[in-house]
Amino acid sequence: MAAAEPVEPGDAHQPCPAPFPMPPPGSVGPPPEYAALRRSCPVARVATPFGAPAWYVTRYDDVRKLLADDRFIRPTINDWPLDADAAARGPGLVTMMELEGPRHAALRQALAEPFSVRATRQRRPALRATADRMLGQIVADGPPGDLVRGFCEPFPLLVMCELVGIPYAERATFLAAADDALGALVTLGEGRDATHQLRSYMASLLERHRRAPGGNILSSLVEASDRGAADEESAAGEESAVDEESVLAFGLSMLVAGYRTTTMFLANAVLTLLAEPDRYERLLRDRALLPTAVDELLRFLPVQNGVVILQAREDVTVHGRTIRAGEAVLPVVAAANRDERTFPEADRLVLDRRANPHLAFGRGPHNCIGAHLARAQLSIGLEALLDHFPRLRLTGQPPTWEDHSPIRSPLTLPVAW
Ligand code: HEM
Repeated sequence: MAAAEPVEPGDAHQPCPAPFPMPPPGSVGPPPEYAALRRSCPVARVATPFGAPAWYVTRYDDVRKLLADDRFIRPTINDWPLDADAAARGPGLVTMMELEGPRHAALRQALAEPFSVRATRQRRPALRATADRMLGQIVADGPPGDLVRGFCEPFPLLVMCELVGIPYAERATFLAAADDALGALVTLGEGRDATHQLRSYMASLLERHRRAPGGNILSSLVEASDRGAADEESAAGEESAVDEESVLAFGLSMLVAGYRTTTMFLANAVLTLLAEPDRYERLLRDRALLPTAVDELLRFLPVQNGVVILQAREDVTVHGRTIRAGEAVLPVVAAANRDERTFPEADRLVLDRRANPHLAFGRGPHNCIGAHLARAQLSIGLEALLDHFPRLRLTGQPPTWEDHSPIRSPLTLPVAW
């Protein structure tokens, strides 16, 4: 879709209208408008790709505050943007992001242990074994090979499925719908249809976990919610117990947030490291640099071009602009992470950058619960790649891209070794 025209030019609180910033074709970006917006229009009125207007916020300090500001909620895909069909659509896709208050807190608490640093550390050998198996298959089949299809896609998906209890073998059932829901910033109608499919898939999966529990997160959550319901019947229930709707919300979060972001960062990270030979070689020579390099890649790669959507519960003023109750705001993590006020040489990839308070995992009560796991996947994935392919290079055949979406990663990554 072409970038939309500026909206509502005559609106009284319409300070500096702008089309929705898109990364240049065939790249992750950043969109060329970021620097100018941060400088002279840090709270810009933009038309989202499907036409609804929103406030686009690009400076680090503002994005950081907004992400943790409880005067905003995260609306479901059915609640924003509102249109004439809203009432007829039924329940939207409620994921963890849209849960609030005690229910959200209870779910976060129930998930704290399985997503902790300790639990993630214990899982590292299994993650490495999975990466070795997949990369070994690429070696056996090539060269050349496609790293997206053979590794960047399946690795985070399989890891998430095994941890959470979503059968990897059933991926054909949910992958397309999950991608439609995720791509809803571009195709709202498809996104909304997809949410129904995902809800019914997850509801039937929870039923299977109830009948045949396994050693995974969904099984223990189903068990906890059934126990909570039984306690409630016997008047012993606590207000903060995890309930069935929260378990469903968690399962849906895994389908829309639990693997695709890692896939996109991994594919972009490999491309960025190979684009200049000394980057990959530096990591080959100095593996101890990997944890710092992973955080720098998370800061530097502008994947998150308007992924978080907030809706104001009341009028809120940011930089003298009034955001009215009900209006939407996009705190743009990818723009904040390139703000020179916080990151010296922000447009340069500095693999050993020390102070790096990037916002790639968000902030506040809804910050990324999978942050430790994502960091482990990225560092183990890159380390396994360095070990298997010390002479990895791009083949010269360009990667393919989906240029309609503001959220980008290469769809293919042809490599040789
Ligand atoms: C590089 C990879 C990843 C990045 C950059 C990332 C980024 C984010 C961000 C920015 C948020 C906050 C959204 C908001 O404020 O509304 C978030 C939330 C979330 N992420 Fe991630 N994520 C990644 C990987 C993962 C993984 C691997 C999992 C789980 C397996 C995961 C699960 C979640 C969940 C459940 C939430 C919602 C938390 C809540 O609302 O309480 N993410 N993520």
